[in-house]
Amino acid sequence: MSPSLFLNRRLLLITGKGGVGKTVFTAALARAFAQQGKRVLCGEIVAHPDTPSQLREALGGPPPTEEPTLLRENIFGVLLTPTMGHLRFLQDALPIRVLADAAMKSQGLKKFLSAAPGFSDMGVMYRMLDLLKRDNGRGQPLYDVCLVDSPATGHALALAQIPEFLTRVLPGGPIFRAAQEGLRVLTDPAVTATVIVTLPEALPVTEALELERGLMRYRLPVSAIVVNRVPHDPFSTDERSQLREAIAAEQGLVYGARELQRIERAEVALKGLAAQRTQGVLTLPEVDFSSSASASTELGRLLAAQA
Ligand SMILES: Nc1ncnc2c1ncn2[C@@H]1O[C@H](COP(=O)(O)OP(=O)(O)OP(=O)(O)O)[C@@H](O)[C@H]1O
Ligand SMILES: [Mg+2]
Repeated sequence: MSPSLFLNRRLLLITGKGGVGKTVFTAALARAFAQQGKRVLCGEIVAHPDTPSQLREALGGPPPTEEPTLLRENIFGVLLTPTMGHLRFLQDALPIRVLADAAMKSQGLKKFLSAAPGFSDMGVMYRMLDLLKRDNGRGQPLYDVCLVDSPATGHALALAQIPEFLTRVLPGGPIFRAAQEGLRVLTDPAVTATVIVTLPEALPVTEALELERGLMRYRLPVSAIVVNRVPHDPFSTDERSQLREAIAAEQGLVYGARELQRIERAEVALKGLAAQRTQGVLTLPEVDFSSSASASTELGRLLAAQA
């Protein structure tokens, strides 16, 4: 892992389009940090605690809950739900703890908090920062690094937009102040970085760059674009030209033609990305495993070896 990409960041938000490998990358990065002896917390943003955990598929261990549990050595998993964030917020904001529990039982308040999408994101953010702040009783953070696997592209942007939304609906007051504090943490490049995962094809790379611009507009620091599933190139230069000749002669109906086309598309996409972004690009290979657990083990080994 190139140290400059992730060094000393305590909170890494992993984002990107559906199915590009966010969960596998989060799990691989967790494995690499854990191998370095770091205590890692992997958070998974879910709407409800009964949503099946993708991280568990990639990391194994017991099913994660809304409280951090040990999944494997040095790796803890937690479900980040809006409701838990709202409860933690009320516990911090209200003078007596039981009031918060009682308030959370109110159907009216529940409806209110889940109605506006901004409040769901706010809950997730509050919980994330609450866990980030936990200390080990000796004045050090309980977790060296927190990784957050987000469900969809829009999420990191939604987090960044919270304070603006709250300024409109609730100027001043404790919720607004909590959001302001959250934004300070999220936009502090010494603490937080977003990582955009994408695939080595033209459109996904363009979308990743668009997402990066969107995040930067909200001052969310992007530390890396990870191009996942870069195909292995088994061809020598000679083999490539022979294959190209055969493809031209047989109009594409040649064994290996599709593979070569895929490799060449990946090369073009990576060149295009390199032209726009000179640093902070990390490539990960397509690995030959069908389960996300074995893919993340293999990629974790590669990341640890690059560290
Ligand atoms: N480098 C890789 N090599 C081979 N297979 C991979 C690689 N990365 C991911 N995969 C596979 O691709 C699929 C999608 O990966 P993953 O679930 O991590 O994507 P995701 O971005 O988290 O998806 P979602 O948006 O649905 O949460 C999984 O089956 C996973 O095993
Ligand atoms: Mg996922």
